[in-house]
Amino acid sequence: MNRTLHSIVPTHTVLEGGGFKVRRPAAMGRLMSPFLLLDEMGPVDYAPGEAVGAPDHPHRGFETVTYLLAGGMKHADSAGNSGDLNPGDVQWMTAGRGVIHSELPQDHMMENGGRMHGFQIWVNLPAKDKMMAPRYQDIPSGDIPEATNDDGTVWAKVIAGEALGVQAVIDTVIPITYIHLKMQPGATYTHTCEHDHNVMIYAFGGSMDIEGRSLHDGGLGLLSEGDAVTLVAEEDGAELLILGGPELGEPIARYGPFVMNTRQEIYQAVEDYNNGTLA
Ligand code: FE2
Repeated sequence: MNRTLHSIVPTHTVLEGGGFKVRRPAAMGRLMSPFLLLDEMGPVDYAPGEAVGAPDHPHRGFETVTYLLAGGMKHADSAGNSGDLNPGDVQWMTAGRGVIHSELPQDHMMENGGRMHGFQIWVNLPAKDKMMAPRYQDIPSGDIPEATNDDGTVWAKVIAGEALGVQAVIDTVIPITYIHLKMQPGATYTHTCEHDHNVMIYAFGGSMDIEGRSLHDGGLGLLSEGDAVTLVAEEDGAELLILGGPELGEPIARYGPFVMNTRQEIYQAVEDYNNGTLA
């Protein structure tokens, strides 16, 4: 059974961290399980000295996944991991029991300015994995599988899950689908999904038809249940993310950068952070 587009969540633009512009769906959390947040960072054109990022801050209980399309970011964390993110690279950071990290523009972005564009999504962890040891997967663009359909009208970058017969290389704690798709005008793509996973489409360029309903740039489309979804790009083509994963069905207690199941666990996270034992 093909999935349909059962609702479209609009996005709004907010300033996050040190003041960088993000486009974010207006309704998050339970509707999007297991995803907690979807931020499109930019696109923004920085003048020299203007670029901003997020200095040291903690996380516990979930994963932060950064995918850069343009610009350059650098990352360093309390577990001793550090790395540069360049266009096409993905950093899949499992905070687990706790990480303190910084996410900043690379020096050349600070000095010369330039365009910054990318995504950060937060993937929730099931209760049994919230306190797992932190894990860091820093995957350069060249190691992330890409695929094109037979007539060359659909291109996919397979960050997690599978598309066009190609399997991702990133290891996820729970089964996650994260595909970047570019479709030429009129192109058709059918994505096979786990029947009971929550699957959503975020359009960030052009528009597409999903079983008779249009999804446009800046819309997050939540899909009904089913085994597949068919996307047909409209006249401007379409660029989008496909995100999918299981419904966790667990309570969410959330306070800033901590996402746990109970308020008591949140108090514990704040206490651990304040007394220096979070990470
Ligand atoms: Fe962060």
